[in-house]
Amino acid sequence: MRVLLLGGGGREHALAWKIAQSSKLEKLYIAPGNAGTAVLAENVSIAVTDFKAIADFIVEKEIQLLIVGPEDPLVEGIRDFLQADNRLSGLMIVGPGKDGAILEGSKDFAKQFMKRHGIPTAGYMTVTSHNIAEGQQFLATLNPPYVLKADGLAAGKGVLIIDDLKEAQKELKEMLGGKFGKASCRVVIEEFLHGIEISVFAITDGKDYRILGSAKDYKRIGEGDTGLNTGGMGAVSPVPFANSEFNRKVEELIVRPTVEGLQKDGIDYRGFIFFGLMNDGGNPAVIEYNVRMGDPETEVVIPRLKTDILELLVATATGRLAEAEFALDERYCTTVMLVAGGYPGCYEKGNIIIGLKDVEDSIVFHAGTKLEDGQVLTNGGRVMAVSSYGHTLEGALQQSYKNVEHIKFKSMNFRRDIGQDLLKWVR
Ligand code: AMP
Ligand code: GLY
Repeated sequence: MRVLLLGGGGREHALAWKIAQSSKLEKLYIAPGNAGTAVLAENVSIAVTDFKAIADFIVEKEIQLLIVGPEDPLVEGIRDFLQADNRLSGLMIVGPGKDGAILEGSKDFAKQFMKRHGIPTAGYMTVTSHNIAEGQQFLATLNPPYVLKADGLAAGKGVLIIDDLKEAQKELKEMLGGKFGKASCRVVIEEFLHGIEISVFAITDGKDYRILGSAKDYKRIGEGDTGLNTGGMGAVSPVPFANSEFNRKVEELIVRPTVEGLQKDGIDYRGFIFFGLMNDGGNPAVIEYNVRMGDPETEVVIPRLKTDILELLVATATGRLAEAEFALDERYCTTVMLVAGGYPGCYEKGNIIIGLKDVEDSIVFHAGTKLEDGQVLTNGGRVMAVSSYGHTLEGALQQSYKNVEHIKFKSMNFRRDIGQDLLKWVR
């Protein structure tokens, strides 16, 4: 099978690593890819939102399966665009159309969807410039802290959590006034949910689903969850506090009603769903939906898939998920993200990375890297993720940290406490 994967981060390297193991693979292309994917596949320099160039490439290379990694092309309607191209009638696509991707593209849509289908989530009100006063009154009925969310995609920056009511009311006005551009011309005000965050990943063909596992990521730059938010500094799968009772609730109250809700709404959703959840004393509620895999969560979820990923993805794209073989590894998988000093603020690019050859019994997934004259250079804030298996959580973490010691680049930074907060659930 000839496959094109869109994206160029650690998520895509992890997907490519698994796809490359499939006996069904004939040729894998990745646009744009990175230095890690270049070893497994052919990198193609096309931007993920250049739909016209992607369509032409698919025709030229006779691609049979397209997998969309990041959310931007999905929310912008890549599936609809390609399906309208009569040269591409046989193309199989993993990733929802615009009608499904709006679950991530509009927080207001996602909240209405959850309300309509009885899926547990925080109470909310959606505000536009026409009902600011009502929005400010709604804020006054809530307990602090106050949660304000830009409705649209805002590069992960559109959520504000504010302790003071007056400040929240002022911020509401500023958001509606264009603080996050078009993304915040509507603002969702939410009740604050208490508990511990956990993510659950599933894949669906619109009728059936498979749960790929739970994961926890570490979003803050600093140890002990301090400092600025990042794209994610490490991850663990599965999450030890997600016991069978919790997992049963997630499936029955959230995953199944979501897939059934999509069906009831006439949305033919074929792709990944990322459920961002809060666990409040054993009861899950949805914080957000994403219509893609997480990064770095993919770097711990995909290594635990024991069966052929291409079989699973083809079954997803063609509506035959019920027939696909599916099994997960019992072991834990953990990952530690190595980042450039200064990230998530200003950081250098183009520094040489050494020591990759000395890594043993871990998988290094590249994120922001590029190949130049045979050398691997840093090319982003998040540079690479070191993933390891373990029969115990502690064992997996030790293995990742052991191999982190081998890798070096100028001003490398990483968190030393990934997974430490979870050890109390396994001891
Ligand atoms: P989101 O972009 O919706 O995932 O929000 C970003 C982060 O804000 C989440 O990962 C949570 O840590 C936090 N957050 C969002 N909504 C809520 C909520 N209703 N209650 C508590 N924390 C929230
Ligand atoms: N790690 C969080 C995300 O991918 O959105």
